[in-house]
Amino acid sequence: MAGSNGKQSCFASKSTLQTMCSRVWFVTDRRISQEYPQVQILRALKERCADEDVEFRYLLMDQIVLTISQGQLGLRVEQELVTSYPQVVLVRVPTPWVQSDSDITVLRHLEKMGCRLINRPQAILNCVNKFWTFQELAGHGVPLPDTYSYGGHDNFRKMIDEAEPLGYPVVVKNARGHRGKAVFLARDKHHLTDLCHLIRHDTPYLFQEYVKESHGRDVRVVLVGGRVVGSMLRCSTDGRMQSNCSLGGVGMMCPLSEQGKQLAIEVSNILGMDVCGVDLLQLNDGSFVVCEANANVGFIAFDQACGIDVAGIIADFALSTLPSRLTRKMSLLSVVSSTSETSSEPEVCMVNAGGGSLPEAVCNMSVGSSSSESDPELAEPSQSSPRRSPASALSDLPDLADAAYNFNNLLANEIKLLTE
Ligand SMILES: Nc1ncnc2c1ncn2[C@@H]1O[C@H](COP(=O)(O)OP(=O)(O)O)[C@@H](O)[C@H]1O
Ligand SMILES: [Mg+2]
Repeated sequence: MAGSNGKQSCFASKSTLQTMCSRVWFVTDRRISQEYPQVQILRALKERCADEDVEFRYLLMDQIVLTISQGQLGLRVEQELVTSYPQVVLVRVPTPWVQSDSDITVLRHLEKMGCRLINRPQAILNCVNKFWTFQELAGHGVPLPDTYSYGGHDNFRKMIDEAEPLGYPVVVKNARGHRGKAVFLARDKHHLTDLCHLIRHDTPYLFQEYVKESHGRDVRVVLVGGRVVGSMLRCSTDGRMQSNCSLGGVGMMCPLSEQGKQLAIEVSNILGMDVCGVDLLQLNDGSFVVCEANANVGFIAFDQACGIDVAGIIADFALSTLPSRLTRKMSLLSVVSSTSETSSEPEVCMVNAGGGSLPEAVCNMSVGSSSSESDPELAEPSQSSPRRSPASALSDLPDLADAAYNFNNLLANEIKLLTE
């Protein structure tokens, strides 16, 4: 066994640290290694490590062999013993498929060896299962839609009666679903009973209060180091409840109210996340409730909509956590991450710093005056300038929920116009 605190650090003392070469690893899963976020993070980390004289290594999960030899934790990669360990490991694992007996085992091993993981294994676990996320958030005063789940296998049918207090229609989600694929809105009890025969019961489901006024819309907030780096309004284009871009939803950068920002930061902090995406649903009064949190947040649509290089921000953050180094960029990042500081921060999106003023919060998006024709800035969206809000003050529409489909179509068309 390793020492009593479980840390068998190769960086025995702080003074040793100062003289050691800084090392960063990027560890991901082969199945997602060619996807946009991983490719971009690899690029950004390589660039920054080269600039900052930091040793960098890229590894896939399945290349790592974990050892415990002579009572000490160790690693082998491609039949070679690893002798220089990283101080910081940036991890990207596909959250819905994460296996605690393999993926999390690797991450625990690295953590116990003294590596700083981004995200930490416990934070990843908090997001593996949507109900686990809500269990973590409950009791902290965070607004959550009422949500039920169940014990025992195959108890979905029992829940049809048990979930009655949530009312109908009710939102049903596979606890490990992702990309909006295992989420549906059940009309009534008969609908649920009929579907019960069709769905797979290998993972439990959760039953959730339907936030009607947010039908087909949500706000994706991306946070790095506990700080909001941007927010994107997502809107479905076909009338469905799920606004996920992977289902055809469209997104555009939007400013976020102070309550939305604070909520996203609180969620990120409670879950212990370094990098995350928090999805928020908006109520009629403009306030937000939590929909879900993603440890392995995708950001292709987000980068496009917001003109932000999320991978670059993640890479800067990773380097800022190296114990023995402090670069100019890092000192900027290290100023940020506490909740209390944010009220004095500039507006939400980093890109905004150079991109002109943002209009009011999402709930007050200004009407009609802006279109791609009337605003030359919007006619040709650029990577460096944020796209501005489209039509309509959401909170000024009393019948918003009933008119959700038409409204979302209108909004989606506006977004498309602005972003095409
Ligand atoms: N309780 C709810 N009320 C209204 N819409 C919801 C609710 N839960 C989810 N949605 C919509 O469905 C989408 C997908 O749900 P989510 O929980 O984020 O699952 P996934 O992990 O598949 O993205 C959300 O982005 C949101 O647009
Ligand atoms: Mg989601």
